[in-house]
Amino acid sequence: MSKRISDRVTWVGKIDWELTSFHGDELSTHKGSSYNSYLIRDEKNVLIDTVWKPYDCEFVSRLKQEIPLDEIDYIVMNHNEVDHSGALIEILREIPNTPIYCTAKGEAILRGHYHQDWNFVKVKTGDTLNLGATTLTFIEAPMLHWPDTMFSYLSGENILFSNDGFGQHYATESLFNDRVCAAEVMREALKYYVNILNPFSPMVTRKVKEIINMNLPLAMICPSHGVIWKENPMQIVEKYLQWADSYQENQVTIVYDTMWQSTRHMAQAAAEGVLEVLPDATVVLKNAAIDDKNDILTEIFKSKGILMGSPTINNGYSYAIAGLLEMARGLKFKKKKAAAFGSFGWSGEAVKMISAHLQEAGFELPIEGLRQQWVPDGDMLDECRKWGHEFAQTLTV
Ligand code: FEO
Repeated sequence: MSKRISDRVTWVGKIDWELTSFHGDELSTHKGSSYNSYLIRDEKNVLIDTVWKPYDCEFVSRLKQEIPLDEIDYIVMNHNEVDHSGALIEILREIPNTPIYCTAKGEAILRGHYHQDWNFVKVKTGDTLNLGATTLTFIEAPMLHWPDTMFSYLSGENILFSNDGFGQHYATESLFNDRVCAAEVMREALKYYVNILNPFSPMVTRKVKEIINMNLPLAMICPSHGVIWKENPMQIVEKYLQWADSYQENQVTIVYDTMWQSTRHMAQAAAEGVLEVLPDATVVLKNAAIDDKNDILTEIFKSKGILMGSPTINNGYSYAIAGLLEMARGLKFKKKKAAAFGSFGWSGEAVKMISAHLQEAGFELPIEGLRQQWVPDGDMLDECRKWGHEFAQTLTV
């Protein structure tokens, strides 16, 4: 069902209540998601973005109930990943000559995906499209989070269409941020930022400042996933500036995997040591083999220090920890300290390997890792506690 969001703009997207993962299995979506598409009605009518291909026919059929397709004068594609461009084939089958406004990179990506010679109109920052009473202004936003990304600003209605930027994987029929749980939607916005946008934080900072300096009146920010920021839309802009600036809270996250509980006991003893030094800190323990990887990465993002542990397994270490380390490498966390720990039986390579991969992922290692053989007894757990204490002291300077 379409929903009017302002005098001239109607939401015509798809709410995906059943989505549990995104980008293959790269990103968990425990709250579902939506593919937001918007219809602007003026002297000229514009469709902004579409939906993921599995919903293309459903989308087009509902769009026809809202407007005859041949009354759509332009399509604007702010970003061309398949979750937004997936219905283009189905729409353009009926209105094949409709101009598609996108960046040069956007055209290349659409050609690469769909191999169609559509009516592309390339736009750059500052280009405008007059619709009658309103005007669209295009703002290139490369690497937020693909090279083709742009934002479109609708003067007259004062709406910024930001595509993935400021989005969240969050399914709701309520559509606006003031009609859902504020803490829940901000948690999903943070998870989205960490797992999708964090590698591009320097570009986020530059682009967000550029947009703030444009002094555009802002009634709403309409992303392509999740709720529309209608109540205090600047709150998510300010959050992005904080998150992009080597964000951290007074938190230490201890991530481990364990075979027979020895490494878990080490983790818990280290946590006690951390709290001796940082009694007000939030200390979070996560079992990498059980807890959701993207939620763990979000906790790592919030932390100033990370302890990562695994038993030695087959001269290596846990695949769950290895997967997290590879994801952390790609996410490019900044200004975080870390150390490795783990139990072993006879060879004990895990700590050395995890330490090397932590360093490769950009973490600073202020102390040596800690290895313990077989099952830790009271003295060994005391050593873990002291090791956690020593690590926490490096977070106070
Ligand atoms: Fe929501 Fe980058 O696609």
